[in-house]
Amino acid sequence: MHFTSITAAAAIALALVAGDANAHMGKGVPHNFKVREVIKPGSGIMTAAKRAATAAAAAPSITNEQSEEQLKSQTEECEAYNYPGISDIKANFPTVWQTAELVQGDTQASQVWDSIQKSGIIPADVKQKGTGGKGDFSSVTPTYPASDPDCWYEYHKCVTPKHKGLNPDIWQCPEPETWGLTFDDGPNCTHNKFYDFLKENNQKATLFYIGSNLLDWPAQGQRGLSDGHHICVHTWSHQYMTQLTNDQVFAELYYTGKAIKDILGITARCWRPPYGDVDDRVRAIAQGLGMSTNVWSDDTEDWQIQPQGTLPTSAIVQNYNSIINQNYDTHGNIVLTHEINADTMNEMMQMYPTIKKHFKNIVPITACMNETNPYPESITFPNFADYTAGKISPANIPDMNNFKISSATYSPLAVATQTGSTVGSNGQLSTGPKKTSGASPTAALNNWTAVSCGIFAILGFLLVA
Ligand SMILES: *[C@@H]1O[C@H](CO)[C@@H](O)[C@H](O)[C@H]1NC(C)=O
Ligand SMILES: *[C@@H]1O[C@H](CO)[C@@H](O)[C@H](O)[C@H]1NC(C)=O
Ligand SMILES: *[C@@H]1O[C@H](CO)[C@@H](O)[C@H](O)[C@H]1NC(C)=O
Repeated sequence: MHFTSITAAAAIALALVAGDANAHMGKGVPHNFKVREVIKPGSGIMTAAKRAATAAAAAPSITNEQSEEQLKSQTEECEAYNYPGISDIKANFPTVWQTAELVQGDTQASQVWDSIQKSGIIPADVKQKGTGGKGDFSSVTPTYPASDPDCWYEYHKCVTPKHKGLNPDIWQCPEPETWGLTFDDGPNCTHNKFYDFLKENNQKATLFYIGSNLLDWPAQGQRGLSDGHHICVHTWSHQYMTQLTNDQVFAELYYTGKAIKDILGITARCWRPPYGDVDDRVRAIAQGLGMSTNVWSDDTEDWQIQPQGTLPTSAIVQNYNSIINQNYDTHGNIVLTHEINADTMNEMMQMYPTIKKHFKNIVPITACMNETNPYPESITFPNFADYTAGKISPANIPDMNNFKISSATYSPLAVATQTGSTVGSNGQLSTGPKKTSGASPTAALNNWTAVSCGIFAILGFLLVA
C-alpha cells in the first residue's frame, strides 16, 4: 500500500502542528509581515490516509504519467496508488511532511553539505530567527534592526543580499507588459483539469513543487515536466525557513532537489521560500546547492480562498484585479499563485482571459529571464523572444512514460559549479553562484576541483575513522 501507518501517524502529527501554527499566527510579526499561506497538511494527508483504508479495492492503475493524465474525475485522481519505483526510494528520504533532517547514513548528502559549509558561503552573523519553523517571530522582530541587515525578504521585500557573494533574488520579469506565471505547492491530486487548461491555451508556467507532495503524487509531478513546465523546489515540508537550523535548511532543499532528480530525472536550479521567508543565511545555503532564490512582486493571496481558506471568491478576484490594473509600461511582474487545491486552480482559470487581455505576454520564469538551460540535463527552453513568438515548448524533455524512478546521482555541487557565470553573451541568465574574482566566499564552490578534493578528503577521513 502506498500510504502506510507512518503516513497516518504523520498526518496526525501534522494536524497537531497545524493547530500550533494557527495559535502563533499574527503574533509579534513585523508591521507589514503577514502570516501567509498556511498549508493545511492535515487536509491533504488525512484524506489520503482515510482513502488508504478503501484504496485496495478502488486503486486506479496508475503505472506511468500517461495513465494519470487520463483520469478525468477528481475522486479518481485523488485515489492513493502504488507507483513503480517509489517504495524502493522512500527510505532514502525524510518522512513526508516532517521537518527534513539529514537521513542517517546518507554519505552523499553529508559530503555535499560539508562542502557547502567549508566553502564559507554561509554568513555566520545571520542568526536563526526563532525556532520550529511555524512563523512565530515575536522573539525576533522587537530587536531586529530596521536597516534589515539580513536582507529578510518578508520584512521589507529585500531582494538584493547584504552579504558578499550572494546572487540577487529573481522577483519580477524585466520585460514590460509581462505577467510572470508561477504556481506554488504542487503537485497535488486535483490538477488534471488545470494542466489540461494550460495545454489548451498554449501556456507554460513555473511550478514550485513540495518534496513531500512529489513523493505522494509522483505521476502528477511527472506530468508537470512532461507538459513542458519549468520545475523548481518549494522545500520538503513547507515551513518558515529562517526558523530552521542550517542543517534543516540544507535538508529541506537537498531532499526536494533529490526527489525531483529521482522522480523526474532533472536537477532543479531554482527554489522559492514558503511565505517568502528567506534571509542571507538561507539564500547562501540554496546558492551552495546551485539554486536561485525566486520570490514575487505581487501576491494574489489565492490560498485564502474559501472553503479551505476564509476569503470569498470576490476578495481574491479583487486581488487579481488590483495586480492586473497596475502600470506595466516599464517592467513586468512575477505573481504568486497556487495549485494548492482545486479552488485556487479554478480561480486562475477564471481570471486567465482577463490577464490575457491586459498583458502582452504571460510567461514562465525561464522565458522572462532568458534562461534557456534551467536544468543541467540536455533540455533547452525558449528564451523570451522565442517564447513570445509562439515557440513555447522546451526541447528534449525525457519521456515520462518510460522513465524509471530510481535513486539517481543527484549532483547539485557540480551544477553549482557548471553554472558559475552571470548573464552570458547569449543573454542567458545563470542561476548558480556568480563567478567573482578575488577572495569571494563562493570561490570554493566555483572550483569543482577544490570541491571534489574536499569530498575525497572527507571520504578518506570517513574510511580512516
Ligand atoms: C490537495 O487538493 C485537495 C483538493 O483540492 C485539497 O483538499 C488538499 O488540501 C490539497 N492538499 C494539500 C497538501 O495541499
Ligand atoms: C532577453 O534577451 C533579449 C534579447 O534577446 C533582451 O532584450 C532582454 O533584455 C533579455 N532579458 C533578460 C532578463 O536578460
Ligand atoms: C581550483 O582548486 C585547485 C585545488 O585547490 C587549485 O589548484 C586550482 O588552482 C583552482 N583553480 C581555480 C581556477 O581557482
